[in-house]
Amino acid sequence: MTTPFSLTHLDCFIEKAENRTLRAGVVGLGYVGLPLAQLFTQRGFDVLGFDIDRGKTSKLMRGESYIGHISATIVQEMLKNNRLAATTDFTRITEADALSICVPTPLDKARQPDLNALRATTESLVPHLRPGHLIIVESTTYPGTTSEVVVPILQKAGLKIGEELFVGYSPEREDPANPSFTARNIPKVIGANDAASFQALKAFYGAVFDRIVPVSSCEAAEMTKILENIYRCVNIAMVNELKLLCQRMGLNIWEIVDAAKTKPFGFEAFYPGPGLGGHCIPIDPFYLSWKAREYDFSTRFIELAGEINTQMPYEVVARVVENLNGRGIPTNSAHLLVLGLAYKKNVDDCRESPAIKILKLLQDRGIKLSYFDPHVSGYVSHRYGDLPGVELAELTDDALLNNDATLILTDHDAFDYERIVTLARTVIDTRNATRNVATLRDKIVFA
Ligand SMILES: NC(=O)c1ccc[n+]([C@@H]2O[C@H](COP(=O)([O-])OP(=O)(O)OC[C@H]3O[C@@H](n4cnc5c(N)ncnc54)[C@H](O)[C@@H]3O)[C@@H](O)[C@H]2O)c1
Repeated sequence: MTTPFSLTHLDCFIEKAENRTLRAGVVGLGYVGLPLAQLFTQRGFDVLGFDIDRGKTSKLMRGESYIGHISATIVQEMLKNNRLAATTDFTRITEADALSICVPTPLDKARQPDLNALRATTESLVPHLRPGHLIIVESTTYPGTTSEVVVPILQKAGLKIGEELFVGYSPEREDPANPSFTARNIPKVIGANDAASFQALKAFYGAVFDRIVPVSSCEAAEMTKILENIYRCVNIAMVNELKLLCQRMGLNIWEIVDAAKTKPFGFEAFYPGPGLGGHCIPIDPFYLSWKAREYDFSTRFIELAGEINTQMPYEVVARVVENLNGRGIPTNSAHLLVLGLAYKKNVDDCRESPAIKILKLLQDRGIKLSYFDPHVSGYVSHRYGDLPGVELAELTDDALLNNDATLILTDHDAFDYERIVTLARTVIDTRNATRNVATLRDKIVFA
C-alpha cells in the first residue's frame, strides 16, 4: 500500500521526468557512464556526473575526453548551457534526482565477483540521500545484487524504499563503435522490486530511451543481462573450438560461417578470434557461476566456454611458433610484428584483450616483439603495465619488411591490409582481416 506521502514523492519525480526538469546523476563516468550522461543531455536533462577519479572529472570540465568514441567536441556540446557538470564531490549527490550507478564489477584474483566498487559507491551515496531519489544500478552483476548488496546499504539512510527512496536495476547494453545502434535506440530493460520504484524508473528511462522493456523484478533484469553475455560467450567458444578443428581439417572457418549465415532463419553468425576480450564477455558469466553455487548448481556451459576461450591465446602462440619453426627460424632469434591490441575492431579498449596475454606468451618463447595499434597508440603500456616488446608510433614499411612475420590480432578498419600483405614476409591472421586481399594469398596463414 502506498501512502499519500509516498505518492507525493513519486508524483513529483514523475512530473520532473516528464517535463525534463529532473537532474540526472551518473556515478562512474567510464565507458558506460559517459555515453549514458551524453544521452541524458541529448534528451534534454541536466546531468551531474560523479567519479572518484579527479583526472576524469577535470578533463570533462575542461571539455576534453578520455574515451576514444566520445570526442572532445561531444564533451564540449554536453557542457553547453551548463548541461553537464562533473565532480568528485559526493555532497552534491543531493542535487541530483536520479542516480545511475555505472561502476566496475570485475572478478577478483580467485575469479569471484568483486563488488568493492559497487559497495563503496553505494556507501558514498548514503549520507546524501533524500526523499524522492531514484537509484538505478547499471553495472553488470549476478541476480540478487541489487536486493542483497545495494539495498541493505541504502537502508542506512533511514528512508523507506518504495515510498521515499526508489531503487531499480537497468542493464547497460553499450556496443562501442557499432554504427547501427546508438544508446537511445537500443531497447532498455528495466526492473524494480516495488511498484513505486518501477513507476519512477519507467517515467525517467521512458523519457530517455526510444523503447523500454519492463521485466518483473531487479533479479529478472540482472539475469537478462547475464543471459545476453553468456549467449555470446558460449557461441564464441563453440565457433572457436570449430576453428581449431577446421585448422586441423584444412578448412577455413570464416568461409564456413559466412556460408552458414546465408540461412535466412535459425542461425546467427559468431566469429572466432584469438580469445575473448573486453570488460563483459570474459567476466560476467562467471558472476552467475559463482551465484549458482549457492543453489548447488553447476553452470557447465559457462565453465566449458571459459575453458575453450581461455585456451585460444595459447593456440595462437602455438601456430606462430609452428610457422616460424616451419620456416627454419628458431623462436629465440625470431622477430614478430603484432598489429592490434584492442579487444575488438575500431575501439581503443584493451581491457582483458587477448593481445596482452599473447604478447606475454610470445615473450616467454624468446620472440622479439614490436607492436602497433592505431587506436591505442602511445598509451597502451602506460595503462596496461609494461608490455613486452617495443611499441611503434606508426606502421612503417621497414617494420613490415624486417620482421619475420606479422601477426594480426585486431582487425581495425584503419589498417591497409593490401599493403600489409604486400610488404610482410608472412602474415598470421587471427581474424580473417585479410579476406579482401586478392593477391599474394600464399603469404597468409590463419591462426
Ligand atoms: N564497457 C562496456 O562496453 C560495458 C557494456 C555493458 C555493461 N558494462 C558494465 O558497466 C559497468 C561499468 O563498466 P565501464 O566499462 O563503464 O567501466 P569503466 O572502468 O570504464 O568506468 C567505471 C568508472 O567508475 C569509476 N569508479 C570506480 N569506483 C567508483 C566509486 N566508488 N565511485 C564513483 N566512481 C567510481 C571509475 O573511476 C571509472 O571512471 C560494469 O559493471 C560493466 O560490466 C560495460
